[in-house]
Amino acid sequence: MISFVTSNKGKFAEARGIFGDLEQKDIGYTEIQADTLEEVAIFGMKEVSSRLQVPVMLEDAGLFIEALQGFPGVYSAYVQKTIGNDGILRLMEGVVDRRAFFKSVVVYAEPGLEPQMFKGIVQGRIGYEARGSLGFGYDPVFYVDERSLGETEIEEKNRISHRAASMLALKEWLDSR
Ligand code: IMP
Repeated sequence: MISFVTSNKGKFAEARGIFGDLEQKDIGYTEIQADTLEEVAIFGMKEVSSRLQVPVMLEDAGLFIEALQGFPGVYSAYVQKTIGNDGILRLMEGVVDRRAFFKSVVVYAEPGLEPQMFKGIVQGRIGYEARGSLGFGYDPVFYVDERSLGETEIEEKNRISHRAASMLALKEWLDSR
């Protein structure tokens, strides 16, 4: 059984929808300030795998808005905590190009194995209003086609999301060994 190190219940619920058997480990780790999700995830895994000698995965994700040159990107957690979805909608006032994507970087490790990295993205756009109360974080303002992820059931999000793509890639790799 894999331990997923996260404090985020929403992430864990999605991951369990993909892996089935999964244990949540809410132990916390250092999230460095870096330019890429990959660096944050790899650094986090070094700390986690030295503490947990079991099969373990962690994930770093972010929202990248084209018209804002990829902001909030690696700052997504801080921006969500501070200005939130209302702040994002304000920043996007009057902006015609609404394109954005979510990116997920998953790192998996087990004793004796070089950490393995898997990535996924989902393309969408920032809506003009927050809609729905499903999911978490930026889901209500991130739209795929005509629906926000806040209006999208977890089973459907797990067919299209950045997290589903990265975690299914890990699952396939695990199954192919
Ligand atoms: P982290 O991967 O936990 O560092 O996530 C960074 C920020 O992006 C947090 O504020 C999350 O709430 C948000 N976030 C990550 N994944 C998703 C998602 O699937 N939907 C909406 N927000 C997300």
